[in-house]
Amino acid sequence: MDGKESTLNFDGKDVALPVKAGTIGPSVIDISKLYGQTGAFTYDPGFTSTASCESSITYIDGDEGILLYRGYPIEQLAEHGDFLETCYLLLYGELPTASQKADFDYRVTRHTMVHDQMNRFFLGFRRDAHPMAIMVAVTGALSAFYHDSTDISDPQQRMIASMRMIAKMPTLAAMAFKYSIGQPFVYPKNELDYASNFLRMCFAVPCEDYEVNPILSRALDRIFILHADHEQNASTSTVRLAGSSGANPFACISAGIACLWGPAHGGANEAALKMLEEIGTPDRVSEYVAKAKDKNDPFRLMGFGHRVYKNYDPRARIMQKTTHEVLNELGVKDDPLLEIAMELEQIALRDEYFIEKKLYPNIDFYSGITLKAMGFPTTMFTVLFALARTVGWIAQWKEMVEDPSQRIGRPRQLYIGAAERDYTPIAQRG
Ligand code: CMC
Repeated sequence: MDGKESTLNFDGKDVALPVKAGTIGPSVIDISKLYGQTGAFTYDPGFTSTASCESSITYIDGDEGILLYRGYPIEQLAEHGDFLETCYLLLYGELPTASQKADFDYRVTRHTMVHDQMNRFFLGFRRDAHPMAIMVAVTGALSAFYHDSTDISDPQQRMIASMRMIAKMPTLAAMAFKYSIGQPFVYPKNELDYASNFLRMCFAVPCEDYEVNPILSRALDRIFILHADHEQNASTSTVRLAGSSGANPFACISAGIACLWGPAHGGANEAALKMLEEIGTPDRVSEYVAKAKDKNDPFRLMGFGHRVYKNYDPRARIMQKTTHEVLNELGVKDDPLLEIAMELEQIALRDEYFIEKKLYPNIDFYSGITLKAMGFPTTMFTVLFALARTVGWIAQWKEMVEDPSQRIGRPRQLYIGAAERDYTPIAQRG
């Protein structure tokens, strides 16, 4: 389709707009010169028809329920790969060879410790602080502790900052958790793989040995793969926009974490679990489905619906399987929340409202049940999402910084405020 043009007739004048084609997926109409040609902006609140960049990292076909990282289907990566392999793939564009993988794992593992002075930084927070509040702050603070990797014009510093972020995020997330429950921080252990290390930092205590359950570690690793990247979603776009000004990567990822926290985005897993707890018993499901359909009630089924997926979220299918594996392993029989979730899913999938609006369960619908069974409190759910999404954010940030055509992001607006008027002295205002 590249080379084709589309024509817009504006104010009686024809304007030719170039059309650009991607490898797969919808083409885009290039409107970058439209303002110069017509004096008009385009208007697209929520960016439902706007591609904000070119990217070769992740592809989503929302109608078919397809998610590809660098061309590889999420199902294959989750089944056969591990999270650090996915990180390599997202960062470098190709799956690693055995020696590249060993080297990458080694480098990430050797960056897992955080500057010891960060311990004192944590002590400034109240014990009941939400761990996402802590994550926003400590991630931004990394730029103060690792100032030697904040020069974004240096490719080597960019890569070191990327490795540091992937490596240190589990350590920081575990510290946020430990701090909230009043337990001592547990240092990373280099002989463990990424997910096992994280589980140990969260659940080990100095007074006894901790053995990582390999089934749980594998399940967590898969959860990380499922969350690793998701194209130009709100938090990723936030990271790109923050980075477009030349801000350092630690500050940009902190901005992404802040955006992810919202219940319409990463906070949905916490909200979904709270909703299941509020429903309480399967017989109350239809009451909540009715509330979700009621136009006069702001209530929404959390974990349902997606801006892009108008089909079953492919991540939700894998997540559902992982939930069953984890509950089986932990011997959780007849989990009431799972029962409510399955009842809710069945009723909603048959309901005309949800069918017509193409509202299907998304990844957050099942992830909360799994994480809860593993021992994580609800406040940690979004933190785990942030941990896993860090690689996606950093890969997208790198791609943007390395794009020679990159400019600061600066959207315009349709101004609907007062036209120019004269200042009235206060005594004359009625
Ligand atoms: N329950 C009931 N109705 C819904 C829901 C829901 N969960 N989601 C959307 N709708 C309705 C909505 O009321 C609207 O109806 P109408 O056309 O009659 O006004 C229609 O479906 C379209 O909704 P929208 O808000 O215009 O869609 P959106 O693309 O702006 O929002 C969404 C997408 C994910 C924010 C939304 O579906 C939602 O709030 N879902 C619940 C929160 C959630 O689970 N979020 C996690 C997203 S997946 C993880 C991630 O990527 O962060």
